[in-house]
Amino acid sequence: MSIMEIDLSIIGMERGRQYETIITTKNAQNVYNAAPIGVICSGPDVIVNRIFKGSHTLENIVETRKFTVNITYDPEIFYTSTLGNLPRNYFNEDLSLKCAEAYFKCEVISLTEAVKQSDPVKKKDEAIVIKSKVTDIVINKDTRAYNRGFGYVVESLSNLSRFDMVSDDKKAEYISKFREANRVVKKVGYREDIKAMGLIKKELRNKGYDL
Ligand SMILES: Cc1cc2nc3c(=O)[nH]c(=O)nc-3n(C[C@H](O)[C@H](O)[C@H](O)COP(=O)(O)O)c2cc1C
Repeated sequence: MSIMEIDLSIIGMERGRQYETIITTKNAQNVYNAAPIGVICSGPDVIVNRIFKGSHTLENIVETRKFTVNITYDPEIFYTSTLGNLPRNYFNEDLSLKCAEAYFKCEVISLTEAVKQSDPVKKKDEAIVIKSKVTDIVINKDTRAYNRGFGYVVESLSNLSRFDMVSDDKKAEYISKFREANRVVKKVGYREDIKAMGLIKKELRNKGYDL
């Protein structure tokens, strides 16, 4: 089903939140490419990506100023496209992935050198921030784009529930995992996820940890 009025909320995308997707592109020689890339929703029909230099995805987007964002929960697609190349028979002619639960087509509005640095990647000015307009959404199945927040909340709660039963080394490991989880949730998660992490932090502080 192709949607007439473009509104990313139809696949659960909320302004200001980040989702993990598979972006598909092709180059001028018609070679298709797929890679997992985060998508920040900036409005009903506007998204922002931050893509590191050196990737095929960035090269293809700069060259064609077009790409497709695929929503899938298939781990094979995530690891194959991260570690190597996704074979051509995984794609439809129109660039979308055959396994996509939904996908949307984008056209670049602007390309800007990244200045902000908020993740653990060391080199600062090696990414480009891409703002794009969504031109078409296709829904193959009722779905929601994947946000990393909730998984971290469940993981942190699971560790918290075992906290008093584990060794000091394991406690230190859980604290360090919590710090990383909290960093990611504050960056990409929903308000409810951030609230949950705040409550977990309070519990850990009550146990004497300086967080
Ligand atoms: C879940 C996930 C999200 C990712 N998000 C981004 C991103 O937002 N920007 C980026 O430059 N790389 C991101 N990556 C890394 C790229 O997918 C990876 O560098 C990939 O190999 C690039 O492939 P390509 O050269 O075919 O474009 C992400 C990887 C994963 C697993």
